[in-house]
Amino acid sequence: MSKFNAGALLLLFVLMFFSSCTHKVKDQVNSPLQQDTICDPNLVYYVNDIQPILNSNCAYSGCHDVVTHKEGVDLSSYNQVMSTGGISAGNPSASELYKKISEGEMPPNNPLASAQQKKIYDWIKQGAKNNECTGSCDSVNVTYSQTIKPILDSYCLGCHSGNSPAAGITISDYSTTRVIAANGKLMGTIEHKAGYSAMPKNASKLSVCNIKQLKKWINDGIQNN
Ligand code: HEC
Repeated sequence: MSKFNAGALLLLFVLMFFSSCTHKVKDQVNSPLQQDTICDPNLVYYVNDIQPILNSNCAYSGCHDVVTHKEGVDLSSYNQVMSTGGISAGNPSASELYKKISEGEMPPNNPLASAQQKKIYDWIKQGAKNNECTGSCDSVNVTYSQTIKPILDSYCLGCHSGNSPAAGITISDYSTTRVIAANGKLMGTIEHKAGYSAMPKNASKLSVCNIKQLKKWINDGIQNN
């Protein structure tokens, strides 16, 4: 066999190997967390991007948490998402989770913002991996639009939006966020200070980096930048 043919054959085997992997969702349940020290802006990370969205929109009491798991769907952890969310890795439009969300069926009465829908789409498209990035923290160049809003959209928006936001507090845009930033409730709740309810509710504390960024934005005068 010529060198060229051997090379082509090898390439074919490699391709077959990878394409057969993308559909083995069962193998991905219990796949160990893959941690990257650099955050690639083109990648979506399950721990950083997806679980926070699921926590604030789906995985709470009465819906898709461990205890209630409506319709058998539990979206409170990677393994449960992979085994009960009907995910077809690499194929968002064949994934139950994405279908329900993009068709506006879930969450009922309060559809996900398009930026969040896109994150879920991209995450599935990129192979629905159990991944996390721990890139360096920029708590100096902080703006409302680039830094603060994306954090609050992922971690808070689900419960604090729509017609009956939790505690009557909406956290969806600059003007609504300004109110809780100015009256101390934003830092009080996310830093778990005495006298405030701990937020995000029933989920782990925001990262040290995110808390620093929010503090910096408030100390700089709560600008709409
Ligand atoms: C899973 C739903 C849920 C998520 C996610 C969530 N909240 Fe809340 N939040 C609530 C509920 C419910 C209350 C009412 C108080 C309580 O039950 O603890 C509340 C109350 C609050 C209050 C008023 C509390 C006080 O002590 O005055 C603030 C401020 C708040 N949330 C901010 C946030 C912020 C900021 C985030 C995101 C970092 C967030 N919440 C995420 C459900 C949620």
